[in-house]
Amino acid sequence: MRHLIDILDLSTEEIDELIVTAKDIIENPKKYSEACHGKKLATLFFEPSTRTRLSFEAAMYELGGNVISVSSAASSSASKGESVADTAKVVSCYADIIAMRHPKEGAPYVASMNASIPVINAGDGGHSHPTQTLADLLTICCEKGRLDNLTVGFCGDLKFGRTVHSLISAMSRYTNIKFVLVSPVELKVPSYVKKDIIQRKNIEYVQTTDLESVMPELDVLYMTRVQKERFFNEEDYLRLKDSYILTPEKLKNAKDDLIILHPLPRVNEIAVSIDDDPRACYFKQVYYAKIMRMSLILKCLGEER
Ligand code: NCD
Repeated sequence: MRHLIDILDLSTEEIDELIVTAKDIIENPKKYSEACHGKKLATLFFEPSTRTRLSFEAAMYELGGNVISVSSAASSSASKGESVADTAKVVSCYADIIAMRHPKEGAPYVASMNASIPVINAGDGGHSHPTQTLADLLTICCEKGRLDNLTVGFCGDLKFGRTVHSLISAMSRYTNIKFVLVSPVELKVPSYVKKDIIQRKNIEYVQTTDLESVMPELDVLYMTRVQKERFFNEEDYLRLKDSYILTPEKLKNAKDDLIILHPLPRVNEIAVSIDDDPRACYFKQVYYAKIMRMSLILKCLGEER
């Protein structure tokens, strides 16, 4: 059974294959339009989402498959007290593959241990978000032409931002990567990311609170939202929420071929006036995300057969 719970579940070769298939889908969409005919995807989302759920669903429809969906915890039996394990067993009778988002870290893993169909983690609490990472990798690969020899800046909530944790983990596998970690002191990357991934792999990195001073170095700038829902107290959130707002002024010393990414939703981190800058790639990233999810669904269902 092929699950995707953490980005490390995929080898670098498998990520390369997913990217190759994604590029082929972009070139030849018709070839794939019936690839999942007769198959059902269940999207089980126990936390809010626009992009991730809809892009999984759009991906399955574009592969000729069907979708059944739980779009909130309140509308499901989770609100009656059903366990993740039981939900996974039940949904295995209805669908061929599950994409699950859950506020609890590890919930998709528990689902994968109990399901008889592949389970894809669509975001678990503040932990990880491997399919956003696949989308980010495809975006970087298509827009920069490479996944190695890059200085990648992460800016914003690096503590609770699960997309940051998964992308750092993935990028750490490529050669000559440097990380620039820009956050308020309170929102630095968790120590397991710093020690177990960045330092263990001997990757060059700097930690700073000042975005403008590092801007000229960056090939990729990954902006993130301060993760309101993970804060224990509203005062801290209000104090930190506007720590970084990217404006045209702040991009003055940036490289001409910088790419600006953001997993979205954007709250206030990027001025709308940047959207027309050719370096802004966050809406292209949304398109690449759907394509990469098509590639992933094909892989998981293919290995199943
Ligand atoms: C991200 C998430 O859910 O972690 N969104 C997404 O999936 N594109 C980022 C966020 O919510 O800030």
